[in-house]
Amino acid sequence: MCGIIGVTGLSDPLAAVLEGLELLEYRGYDSAGIVGVEASGQALWRVRAAEHGGSIDRLRAEADGGPGPLRACLGHTRWATHGAPSEENAHPHLDCSGRVAVVHNGIIENHRELAAELDRSGHKRTSATDTEILAHLVEAEIDAGADLAEAVRRCLLVLRGDFAVALVHAAEPDLIVAARRTSPLVVGTTASAGVVASDVAAALSTTRQLYALEDDQVAEVAPGRLLVRDLEGRRVEPARIDVAWSVERALKGGYPDFMSKEIHEQPRAAADTLLGRVSPGGATEIEELGLDEEELRATRRVLLVGCGSSYHACLVARHALERWAAVPAEAEIASELRYREPVLAEGTLAIAVSQSGETVDSLHAMREARRRGARVLALTNVVDSVMAREADGVLYTRAGPEVGVASTKSHVAQLVMLEAFALHLARARGTLREGEPGRLAGELLGLAASIGRVLEREEDYLSLGRRFSASENFYYLGRRLGLPVAMEGALKLKELAYVRAEAYPAGEMKHGPISLIEPGAVVVVVATRTPLWEKVMANVEEMRARGATVLGVADEGDEETARLLDGVLVVPPTSELVSPVVCVVPLQCFAYAVARARGNDVDRPRNLAKVVTVE
Ligand code: F6R
Repeated sequence: MCGIIGVTGLSDPLAAVLEGLELLEYRGYDSAGIVGVEASGQALWRVRAAEHGGSIDRLRAEADGGPGPLRACLGHTRWATHGAPSEENAHPHLDCSGRVAVVHNGIIENHRELAAELDRSGHKRTSATDTEILAHLVEAEIDAGADLAEAVRRCLLVLRGDFAVALVHAAEPDLIVAARRTSPLVVGTTASAGVVASDVAAALSTTRQLYALEDDQVAEVAPGRLLVRDLEGRRVEPARIDVAWSVERALKGGYPDFMSKEIHEQPRAAADTLLGRVSPGGATEIEELGLDEEELRATRRVLLVGCGSSYHACLVARHALERWAAVPAEAEIASELRYREPVLAEGTLAIAVSQSGETVDSLHAMREARRRGARVLALTNVVDSVMAREADGVLYTRAGPEVGVASTKSHVAQLVMLEAFALHLARARGTLREGEPGRLAGELLGLAASIGRVLEREEDYLSLGRRFSASENFYYLGRRLGLPVAMEGALKLKELAYVRAEAYPAGEMKHGPISLIEPGAVVVVVATRTPLWEKVMANVEEMRARGATVLGVADEGDEETARLLDGVLVVPPTSELVSPVVCVVPLQCFAYAVARARGNDVDRPRNLAKVVTVE
């Protein structure tokens, strides 16, 4: 989703901004732009592009032949919310004078009423975006005598919504002013440079001394100067971020795309996530958890929230928490929780699951749960992300940076981490029988090898995908632990291959959706040997009787299931509770193959963003 990078000082801030934009690219974007204050301090230089996948190259080409020396520069990748993805809606946006520029992530909710006021007072807007409003509001404050920082502070008082913004003004050529509400923003300075970024990774080449802005703080960033104020204009000390890791530019490492590379990194992601947390004897330790054994024992209910694939991980975790830790557990879509006025009884532990740690729906759900008295944990792959910073404790996955927009290794790492947490909670609550912690730990620790065995069969999954790449109607069915796997498989197919794929509880099909089944329909079923296998196979028969072609995920060596299906995605047998980690992988490969056969860009599927920072 949208990304912000701003650099001031340095001999070539424009080059640093271009590099930052490339690091932001993975978030998904449909247009991009740059603005810089010309060294004369009289004017702004701006370039924007809206070419799917090629905007940053266009900016680079323009920059090569383009401006003279620049002072403060801002760059932005945009994922359209208000206004189509076009060059005129791309950021940065300017005021009427062309001397104030703004880049923005998030949404200004009251933009319509603010736009109407601006129109009445004669401002000329040139885009359909909510962002441009801010340029004009700031212009009005500057005309009334404010400097840039003061103008932004005053404007924040009237803005509603979730956003991060960065602005420059031709009259203050070395200054970038940045502010945020909910959407993340980091700032930093050295004696010779200043940086503002929505992602830590994009800021690191300028400085590692970074600070996270809190809600409603306004920062003035210039070489040798970092001043942060709250909405009342009082100086505040920003929170320092501990950047212990180095950011390597993600490379495809010989794979045709990031998605296949990341699929192959899944054994590593599972192993790294468990490292030092689950030991073979069954002992568990989760360092950043922030809850001691007594607090864990006091847990009366667990509420898991997330979006998309992260929500599917929550659905799996619910089973492990109930069966191992004997604690009531529910999973809910984050964007729904916030608006349904949930009653959270005392002792509720809420776990917000988010690869990015930034998804605004999940962040709001986490805040809502806390407001209603729950202890909150964030399960995320991004160290120091907004959710990690706000939660009472953190469950970090260790999948490494995920570049492909569709989550693969981060989803698998979420499943593994949630199950490790379920084991940890079960031990604290004393709900496991003797010997069980060791057995379960063994199953978890064996998962990396099992995924490795799955990947040895990759070509089988890919060729099955290619065989069905022309089909237009897919139904994914599963029961119990198989259901979230089916949901994840269907999501992967939809987002990558752009074909209809409906996921349904297998037993529920006959209550309506079965009327859609006719020859040509392809049903993909999770048919591993669980206690519900017979019931699943009865559902398979119902589909076949109506002319569907039925493919299924089945255990290695299970000839009977293979005979009953039209095609199999074979996996090594695992116990039911950990099986989603293994069963989801062939479905990722299947979706990948369908998408590739259709000529789609698997790393950057249309309309999708890696990080969803708007509601
Ligand atoms: C699907 C996918 C999305 C994300 C969802 C939540 O492949 O990647 O459904 O899972 O947008 O994102 P995070 O986990 O960053 O909160």
